[in-house]
Amino acid sequence: MARKRGLIYFQDGELVAESGEARVYLMNGELFLEIGPGHTLWALQSELTDYIEQLKDYPNGDVLEIGLGLGVASRYILTFNKVASLTTVELNDDVIEVHNQIRDHLYTPEDEKVIDGKQHVVLNVDGLEYLFTTKYNYDFIFLDFYDRIDEDTLPLIKDMVNGCRRVLRPGGMAIGWLDPYTPDEFAKEFENIFPIMG
Ligand SMILES: C[S@@+](CC[C@H](N)C(=O)[O-])C[C@H]1O[C@@H](n2cnc3c(N)ncnc32)[C@H](O)[C@@H]1O
Repeated sequence: MARKRGLIYFQDGELVAESGEARVYLMNGELFLEIGPGHTLWALQSELTDYIEQLKDYPNGDVLEIGLGLGVASRYILTFNKVASLTTVELNDDVIEVHNQIRDHLYTPEDEKVIDGKQHVVLNVDGLEYLFTTKYNYDFIFLDFYDRIDEDTLPLIKDMVNGCRRVLRPGGMAIGWLDPYTPDEFAKEFENIFPIMG
């Protein structure tokens, strides 16, 4: 994933934001977020096309998102007219800090007009803890807190799903981000879990 058109984002790109262990690079007009010392890529701006496909026209009412990353999905969710508010829960405060630094790269003046003061709250807390302690309820939940889907991440995904059942409003729905590169065996297990209905 780190290679794109023969270029490597952390060598050929420009470092545009940094906080602690989180760094954002800009290469060929596209943002890349890595977290940690080993150039682990956590989010790419080009994933917007997958978000458009997977989120369909689901986001509505009060939306909860677990995992901020670059904020590409947040920006997209906020552009839905039928979305009243977005709460994004992010574990890593460095990710929140770099997101603040790159906001101008992400949001066009046109986006700002569409979003027009819509409430976006970003909370620095563990998603699982939030799901089992919050007093708020949501119409739509988007889970995207993992960098891959496999035997290590599926147990936590299932725990989060149980938390979603607690906070979904009747008629509400939760889905998880399906990485297109997920091996078949884990993709099948994942697809059997979602969607979660309130
Ligand atoms: C794949 S990225 C999200 C990409 C994002 N959808 C976007 O549009 O860029 C996953 C994010 O989830 C965060 N995360 C990991 N574990 C978490 C947890 N338990 N609770 C909340 N956020 C978590 C990571 O720090 C990372 O920022």
